[in-house]
Parts: sequence; C-alpha cells; structure tokens
Amino acid sequence: MNLMRKSQRFLLRRICKTFDLHQAKRSLLSSPALSDQEKALLDRVSLKIHGNDELYVPFHAQHYLSVGLSALRCIEEVLNRAKGDRVIRPILDFPCGYGRILRFLRARFPDADITGAELNRAALDFCRRTFSVRSLVSDTDFTRLSLSDKFDLIWCGSLFTHVDEKAATALLKFFQDHLTPVGLCVFTTHGLTSVDRIQEAKKTYGLPVKARQELLSQFREHGYGYADYPDQNGYGVSVVSHERMLALAESAGNWHEVVFGERAWDSHQDVYGFVNAE
Ligand SMILES: C[S@@+](CC[C@H](N)C(=O)[O-])C[C@H]1O[C@@H](n2cnc3c(N)ncnc32)[C@H](O)[C@@H]1O
Repeated sequence: MNLMRKSQRFLLRRICKTFDLHQAKRSLLSSPALSDQEKALLDRVSLKIHGNDELYVPFHAQHYLSVGLSALRCIEEVLNRAKGDRVIRPILDFPCGYGRILRFLRARFPDADITGAELNRAALDFCRRTFSVRSLVSDTDFTRLSLSDKFDLIWCGSLFTHVDEKAATALLKFFQDHLTPVGLCVFTTHGLTSVDRIQEAKKTYGLPVKARQELLSQFREHGYGYADYPDQNGYGVSVVSHERMLALAESAGNWHEVVFGERAWDSHQDVYGFVNAE
C-alpha cells in the first residue's frame, strides 16, 4: 500500500515536472526578451532533468531554463570580445552538476567535444549519458587534478562561489594551464551584489549569522571572504571583489580579462571572461 503511494507520488512529480518544463519553454519562446537566435537555441535544448537535480525547483522551470540562457549570453559576450575567428571544439564545463548549463552548451556547440567535470558521480554519469559528453571525476583539492587535455572554452558556473581563496587560486591555475592558445575561460563569482544581500540580511546563503559576519570581515580586510557551510569543511560560500579576483587570476598565468560583468549571470553572480595572451 505504502509502495503504491510512493510510486504514485513519483509519477505525479514526473508529470508535473514535464508539464512545468514544457510550459516554461513555451512561455520563453513567446517572450520578446529573447532574441530569435536564443529561441532557436532553446528549441534544441534537452528538457531531461534528473530527479536529484536540486537546482530545479518544482514549478520554477522558467528560472532553470533562464539561467542556462543567461550563461550562454555571457559566453557569447566573451566570444564577441575575444579577437579573431574562433572555432570552439573541446569544451570543459567545470562543475557540470546535473547539466543545467551543459544542455545549452551541447545545443549551442553540437559538434564540440565536451567534457563535464564533477565531484558528484551520479551527476557526472547522468550528464555523460544524456548530453553525450566525456566525464572527469574531480577532486576537492584542485592541485591533485591530472588531465592532459586542453580546451577552447572553459565554463565554470558557481564553483568559485563555494571555495576559499587558496582553492580559488589553484582552480584558476588549473583553468589557465588547460586552455588552448586561443582558449577562453568564463567563470562566475559572488561579488558586491551578494555582499550587499548578506550585509542587509536579505539572503543568508545557508550560513549562520556568525559565519556571515566572519565572511564579511575577511572581505572588508582583503577583498576575499569565505565561510564553510555548517558541518562542512572546505565547502561553503565566498564573496570576492573584482580587484582581488583580478589579482588572483593574473597570478595564475599569462592570460587577460576581456569581460567583467557585474551580476551578469542571472542578475546575481559576477562574470569574468579571460583569454590566453597572444
Ligand atoms: C552550485 S552547483 C553548480 C552546478 C552547475 N555549474 C550549474 O550551474 O548548474 C555547484 C556544483 O559544484 C560541484 N562541486 C563542488 N566541489 C567540487 C569540486 N571540487 N570539483 C568539481 N565539482 C565540485 C557540486 O557537486 C555541485 O554540483
């Protein structure tokens, strides 16, 4: 009896999710806020969402899809600003999660050789099967990652936002080391918008008061603030100023910033576009 109820609930959730996603897609396709190119892209995007993908909030499919469109808008902006005709072949999505952005990358670059990187094996497996990508099992210590491939495009959405300055520095170095000579890297951070939201207690980002105070005080002192999530070690929430992130990125190697967009991703996270120096 209980089992029946469970399977019925599962089925109902699935039906609601499918309805929500198709409804959201229809609504976006008729929105004047999207260009014809974006509508054509959205039309090709897979709507398969894993049951454990926590970034999909029931009945908020429009936001889920809009975040993907916003990421692609940021990437197009970096591609436009980077000089020269670029053919994008190998791509790295690090971290890919359950493919919220990866599905848009696959639709935008159908012939590209895409690699998704993640700590979460189930997410990685889902992405490999659903979006025909290679997979890279990541590590909590970015200096331990070993990979011989290089990429024309690296997209990193919302990982710097969760690590401390030491890890961020190692991750920047890993990205710089794995760009082709014409490669570009697009990554996001929590910037001043997030600082304001925390300061004004509009958002907690899952941190208790004391951790938020500590993060803000580090930020004021040297431009990078970080606090662990409760009961976690080495994974939490970070905020960083543009100046501090530039300094960290510049110390990672010979590349330069071509785009900085304050709260450019989903009107929330700051976006950086870096290209290899010629
Ligand atoms: C906020 S989610 C972003 C996922 C994806 N970029 C998106 O926007 O949909 C952060 C992801 O980072 C992954 N993650 C955390 N630490 C990681 C690490 N050291 N290496 C790779 N992925 C990591 C988590 O498993 C989680 O899926």
